[in-house]
Amino acid sequence: MTEVKAAFFVRSPGRVNLIGEHTDYNAGFVMPLALERGTTFQVQPRDDQQLIVHALRFNAHDQADLANLAAGTHGDWRDYVRGTAQALLDAGYALQGAEINIDGDLPLSGGLSSSASLEVGLAFSLLHAQGITIAPAELAKIAQRAEIEYAHVNCGIMDQLSIAAGVAGHATLIDCRSLEIEAVPIPAEVAVLVIDSGVPRTLAGSAYNQRRAECEQAVAILQQLDPSINDLRDVSSTLLAQAVEQDRFEDVIYRRARHVVSENERVHKAAAAFRTGDFGYVGELMNESHWSLRDDYEVSGPELDQLTELLRDMAGVWGARLTGAGFGGCCVALVEASQVDTVIAALGPAYHAATGRTCEAFSTKASALTIEEPRA
Ligand code: GLA
Repeated sequence: MTEVKAAFFVRSPGRVNLIGEHTDYNAGFVMPLALERGTTFQVQPRDDQQLIVHALRFNAHDQADLANLAAGTHGDWRDYVRGTAQALLDAGYALQGAEINIDGDLPLSGGLSSSASLEVGLAFSLLHAQGITIAPAELAKIAQRAEIEYAHVNCGIMDQLSIAAGVAGHATLIDCRSLEIEAVPIPAEVAVLVIDSGVPRTLAGSAYNQRRAECEQAVAILQQLDPSINDLRDVSSTLLAQAVEQDRFEDVIYRRARHVVSENERVHKAAAAFRTGDFGYVGELMNESHWSLRDDYEVSGPELDQLTELLRDMAGVWGARLTGAGFGGCCVALVEASQVDTVIAALGPAYHAATGRTCEAFSTKASALTIEEPRA
């Protein structure tokens, strides 16, 4: 490991989404939380324009001049690092160089937003080195721009915003149109269990973009009935039913729209049930979310289906669903805290027996982005 004299230390969480999947880019609602696992940054500001990064997990290094970042041209992790710096410069922030050790404990490509964790934490670090603090929504938008423009993934705002605005001990209910956030407390008797299915997220990029395009097709059809509609967020189940009656939809486009419209409704119901402590109902909504993602949005797979089925049959599990974009990656379950160790112990062998694969499960508290300055 390269020794970097730490001027400050930043920890940027990953995220897991409790409910509200594939709704963010439809201007809808999501309810994720920031994880205890994440990405760490040990930052030494420099007086020049050199950005020097040591990616400890990859045993790899990168050095670039801030005036000539060539962001988005490498096809590997450097696109995220240089892209984040470039997105800050694009947004008009003046930066100076820094030498940064980056490490972390998130599964990579597991659907827990390791890339957004990197972008948000790095943008925060580079700004902090200049003595600049910006609002979480602005930080998230810059990080999202890095992902879209320089890592070439056409993502929504959920991952970056849930990391930038995460509140310890709370899930965050986000309106992805206004970017308003409401922190929803997670009581101590509720455990959030994250399970990596061990299935790599193949297809995620191309199929993700295809789903986005299908949602846009659905909007174009629905606009013929109601021109005030901008996004699927504006569509009610009544309007959707009307469009079906008039035979306006191809089946697949209808099912994509039905997922998004019903998922937005589920997010509101889940947030309300969280507030009244009705976790049994939150769990039911999570199960329904999974089935909708499986049948209507078609982003699940046999292992994610199997894993969530096994979880639903276990004592103490309120509900389970795939989390993130899908096509492999992770599931999330809401579990009675007193039962979580038993569930983890039973799940591994059951999943292996059913699929031949190995899963990794951990429970997490909701966390937040943190900074530590050295003591004077
Ligand atoms: C990925 C994207 C998010 C969101 C989810 C699906 O994680 O980065 O913006 O669209 O998929 O909910």
